[in-house]
Amino acid sequence: MLFQCSKLTPLQSRFVASFAALLLLGVVYWSLSNPHFAYAAELDVDGSGQARGGQDHNWHRIEQARLHDDGVEDESEASDTPLQRRAAAATAISANNAPNLLNIQPGNTTLWVYSNDLLTSPSTPRGPGLPSEPGVKRDVEPEHYDLRKRQDGGGAKTIYVSINTCVQPTWNATSVQTVSPPQLTLYVSSEANNDAVGPDGAAQVVQPLSEGFANVSVTASGTWYIAVHAPALPSGFVGVWNYELAVSHEAYYHSADESDSFLFLVDTDIESALLVTDNLTQQNASTPIFQQWMDLSTPFTMFAANINHTSMMGMQSSYCGWFNEKQIAASQSDPTGANSGVQMGMITRGLGNKPKEQFYVTNLNSSSSYIGVLAQPGNSTQSGAGVVGGGGKIWQPVGWQTKTDGNCALMFNLSFCDEVAYAVPSNPYKYNITGLRAEFDNYTSVSYQQFNYSLQQIPCNTTSDAKYSTVRNCDDCAAAYKQWLCAVSIPRCEDFTNPATYLQKRNMGQAYFNNQSYLSPDVLNQQYTPMSRAPTLAGSPAYNQTFISSLATNSSRNWAIIDTLIQPGPYNELLPCEDLCYSLVQSCPASLGFGCPYPGRGLEAGYGVRSKNGTLTCSFLGAVYDFNAATDLVAPVFKAVSLAALVVIVLGVV
Ligand SMILES: *[C@@H]1O[C@H](CO)[C@@H](O)[C@H](O)[C@H]1NC(C)=O
Ligand SMILES: *[C@@H]1O[C@H](CO)[C@@H](O)[C@H](O)[C@H]1NC(C)=O
Ligand SMILES: *[C@@H]1O[C@H](CO)[C@@H](O)[C@H](O)[C@H]1NC(C)=O
Ligand SMILES: *[C@@H]1O[C@H](CO)[C@@H](O)[C@H](O)[C@H]1NC(C)=O
Ligand SMILES: *[C@@H]1O[C@H](CO)[C@@H](O)[C@H](O)[C@H]1NC(C)=O
Ligand SMILES: *[C@@H]1O[C@H](CO)[C@@H](O)[C@H](O)[C@H]1NC(C)=O
Ligand SMILES: *[C@@H]1O[C@H](CO)[C@@H](O)[C@H](O)[C@H]1NC(C)=O
Ligand SMILES: *[C@@H]1O[C@H](CO)[C@@H](O)[C@H](O)[C@H]1NC(C)=O
Ligand SMILES: *[C@@H]1O[C@H](CO)[C@@H](O)[C@H](O)[C@H]1NC(C)=O
Ligand SMILES: *[C@@H]1O[C@H](CO)[C@@H](O)[C@H](O)[C@H]1NC(C)=O
Ligand SMILES: *[C@@H]1O[C@H](CO)[C@@H](O)[C@H](O)[C@H]1NC(C)=O
Ligand SMILES: *[C@@H]1O[C@H](CO)[C@@H](O)[C@H](O)[C@H]1NC(C)=O
Repeated sequence: MLFQCSKLTPLQSRFVASFAALLLLGVVYWSLSNPHFAYAAELDVDGSGQARGGQDHNWHRIEQARLHDDGVEDESEASDTPLQRRAAAATAISANNAPNLLNIQPGNTTLWVYSNDLLTSPSTPRGPGLPSEPGVKRDVEPEHYDLRKRQDGGGAKTIYVSINTCVQPTWNATSVQTVSPPQLTLYVSSEANNDAVGPDGAAQVVQPLSEGFANVSVTASGTWYIAVHAPALPSGFVGVWNYELAVSHEAYYHSADESDSFLFLVDTDIESALLVTDNLTQQNASTPIFQQWMDLSTPFTMFAANINHTSMMGMQSSYCGWFNEKQIAASQSDPTGANSGVQMGMITRGLGNKPKEQFYVTNLNSSSSYIGVLAQPGNSTQSGAGVVGGGGKIWQPVGWQTKTDGNCALMFNLSFCDEVAYAVPSNPYKYNITGLRAEFDNYTSVSYQQFNYSLQQIPCNTTSDAKYSTVRNCDDCAAAYKQWLCAVSIPRCEDFTNPATYLQKRNMGQAYFNNQSYLSPDVLNQQYTPMSRAPTLAGSPAYNQTFISSLATNSSRNWAIIDTLIQPGPYNELLPCEDLCYSLVQSCPASLGFGCPYPGRGLEAGYGVRSKNGTLTCSFLGAVYDFNAATDLVAPVFKAVSLAALVVIVLGVV
């Protein structure tokens, strides 16, 4: 038994004097013996500030665990003399690599003691770790504990102290919460036997938590003290904190990447979002590390919440905080998302075709903003007490906005255009996503087949004299054609109400899919200049156009499928990047007759230009939103537009 008094030294026993302390130990012990409880043990606190179980059911089990574990010795503890009770403030850290859960009230300080027994206890085996360190550009082997241990001389060892906020005070004012509650502070002594740690302490490392997370490592020997302090509460907040403190002499139990999100948004529609991790390795497909990543099912999970879900404010780097307060959580035991709504799996789609984990988050609200974080449960295969790093890891949040209009559907997993993963023009009254996928798949594979027949007439495999190019061959041409065909015949869809100027309005004369109404004639008859770089000025046909008369604004670029079959109504197209067309022309024999439109003669209405500032201003296969490069990461909030607002948007384009 961890807390049997017979095993406690006199020094330690004076710290476990009060009934309250014992009660807490009971809770801690119970949480250790119940790995699932390690996260579920957020302790509800009633108005008087007494810690109690979240449910009566749990509370009885905690009580029973205490009585059972501490047995008769409870009595002697409870009747300790006042002298022994004097320093009843320190609670023992229960074990290495284990969460020590505790409630703390505003203004209070909790003192913890990490015994020499724990410091000198044998190390816990760590397991092989992930195939490579994700996020480290150069693939490195996971660091080995043994190396580090040898660096610590004598009886001294590095100890790794980490803390997660699991529950925090809540906003109880009538106004909208705009600030997070204040953060706890972690104090770790910098010398042995120093119990004067805390706000008034000395010889200590002071680390205020940031977004519910802090870590401190020190070289320790003998008995070591740690304190956690809760600040006074500003007005508007009520309640207490609950935190999870862990000490290990192997590695941090909790981690947070405080600089990198390691997660990218691919695209959204009105009810879902598709996200992928960054490349998990840069190694190529023939290497063992590449294969080991692909053989893992789901090493990471993720959490997400609506930005209106303000109870997450202030805990965004805390695994425990997300676990308790999440709205949406992926689960390794539910990779198809049947219950969680988050589907996940390993993919190689995307630039470079490296291993990544994909998350398809569903059941979202339209026109809403979300934040999501990549998370690693424990060491990715096991979590909780007894696991080195068992407290999990959180990366930086990624924000996104769901779409508004309902005629763009997120589509991926096509069989021919397997690199397509974005929203496409859709009409939920006519096609579900399976039907939509089949329609585009059929169209693109039939088109490609026709191209392939033509390519076979070209002398690709002759001597270099007879070849159409000395630098490109027919495989390059076929690859460039496939890229171009997929990007052009499966247009990337944005809300018609999105005012971004690099978007191309399409299908404006078509009825809205949901109510069969049309844009007003006032809008449709606005003058429209499809090609800003047209060679002649006013008077030329390029200038005498309206939204309804211009082919660019009154049709889609895939008439056979979109205008005729899908009938999505007005939408915006994120144009394919012009380099896809140039690459096709350069890679294929001239005899195939490919050409790109010239500026002022159709280029602007057909192709977009990549932006250097990180904004996704044109479509290419494998594109992701680069949150680190761009500042306008999350598209602005698009409200359902009234006619008046629409006129303003349209005028802005002219
Ligand atoms: C915590 O603070 C409350 C009031 O702020 C006080 O009554 C209580 O005694 C404190 N608890 C400890 C353990 O210091
Ligand atoms: C996680 O920890 C467990 C128990 O310590 C270990 O068996 C497992 O191999 C570890 N997983 C990884 C990926 O290291
Ligand atoms: C929270 O706010 C409600 C209504 O304003 C009030 O009745 C209640 O007493 C507040 N709770 C606390 C703990 O201050
Ligand atoms: C604490 O964690 C951060 C992020 O995980 C890490 O960069 C930092 O080195 C750690 N601090 C210490 C003192 O080890
Ligand atoms: C794979 O990587 C190795 C070494 O990193 C390199 O020698 C080899 O050419 C690469 N293979 C391919 C197909 O890129
Ligand atoms: C979410 O927050 C935004 C901005 O504060 C607000 O306009 C919107 O009504 C909120 N939505 C919900 C569902 O509360
Ligand atoms: C992945 O690696 C490729 C190169 O192999 C690079 O082009 C790409 O930007 C990287 N990141 C993502 C998210 O695709
Ligand atoms: C969707 O909106 C409803 C009503 O505003 C809200 O209660 C719910 O939490 C939201 N759900 C998500 C996942 O944003
Ligand atoms: C999609 O629609 C087709 C018929 O249009 C139907 O057979 C199929 O079951 C639908 N699939 C789903 C997932 O609803
Ligand atoms: C596939 O496309 C071709 C030509 O685009 C069309 O003739 C055929 O009917 C389509 N097949 C299906 C099953 O939609
Ligand atoms: C060219 O030759 C290679 C190998 O002999 C073959 O795999 C390829 O299909 C040929 N290409 C064409 C277009 O015939
Ligand atoms: C980036 O450039 C595009 C046009 O090229 C512009 O619309 C967008 O606002 C720019 N974004 C930033 C963050 O400057």
